[in-house]
Amino acid sequence: KRPVGAPDRKLARPVSKVGVIGAGLMASQFALLFLRRLQVPVVLTDVDQARVDKGLAYIRDEIAALEQKARIDADEANRLRALVRGTVDKTEFADCDFVIEAVFEETAVKQQVFAEIEGIVSPEAILATNTSSLSVEEIGSVLAHPERLVGFHFFNPVAVMPLVEIVRTPQASEEAVATAYVVAKNLRKNAIGSADAPGFIVNRLLAKVMGEAARALDAGTPLATVERAFGPLGLPMTPFQLIDLVGWKVAAHVQDTMVSHFPERFHASANLHALADVPQAVEKDKGGRVTGWTKEAQR
Ligand code: CAA
Repeated sequence: KRPVGAPDRKLARPVSKVGVIGAGLMASQFALLFLRRLQVPVVLTDVDQARVDKGLAYIRDEIAALEQKARIDADEANRLRALVRGTVDKTEFADCDFVIEAVFEETAVKQQVFAEIEGIVSPEAILATNTSSLSVEEIGSVLAHPERLVGFHFFNPVAVMPLVEIVRTPQASEEAVATAYVVAKNLRKNAIGSADAPGFIVNRLLAKVMGEAARALDAGTPLATVERAFGPLGLPMTPFQLIDLVGWKVAAHVQDTMVSHFPERFHASANLHALADVPQAVEKDKGGRVTGWTKEAQR
């Protein structure tokens, strides 16, 4: 029995080159996953060469770590290194069949990225957004062919979290959705279909956990106490570790989206925004962040 919303996989288009727009921590993580699991050329881009180089450095370090842990042999490590390219020149995306973005969580920014990329790729190329809560339909409204766009939402840490949410807009073609399901399967992820609703499925829950933890700070409870209160629940991470993992800015954006769509159910937290705006170095010195894992992800 096919999962709800999953189309006929025979309609999937072949993917022989992947384009990744954005070279931050999330994008670099899934660029590596595409390399490893699809073994096809992956081209990565960002707004400047420094960001591209940082993404490439992350990927090379992770390939070295996989080799060191004997998860891949030297031949495969070399093959993966040779398959990845980073560039600020988006014309190198011309022959990509599947292009996925993880740029700043703002609809206008994502629209601009896709409008530009649609002018470069072939008419058959499938486009995907890793947005965590924005409307995929609205992002795609600037496209000449919005039917080629799907939501393809990974979770942090990408290498270990087994889930991908595939978001189908009302316009999405069966080919685009089928391709997304087959790509997810080849990445060895469990795909679940989601309607194009705010927060999709997972972030409806996570935004509650992260938001209410932050609102406990608003109420005057010290951060360490909130952490201790959650410890005995046996979750893999406490709420602030989770916020650290996804990035405070991302958590604040998700919260904003949910509050704007469901003001009766989601509520803003002054602390979530205040902490998201604190420069990392200062914040780390103050010991405000819980783990500091995702300092690099704050952009
Ligand atoms: N980046 C990459 N890999 C990581 C990692 C990270 N930040 N953290 C852990 N790992 C890897 C480790 O390297 C290890 O891999 P190997 O087996 O290859 O060595 C593996 O994960 C397990 O690590 P640990 O042994 O340290 O395991 P753990 O038991 O402490 O589990 C965890 C770590 C899997 C991250 C666990 O704490 C967990 O499941 N946390 C919850 C994560 C979660 O809920 N993510 C969703 C966030 S929401 C989101 O991303 C999207 C959004 O839209 C907001």
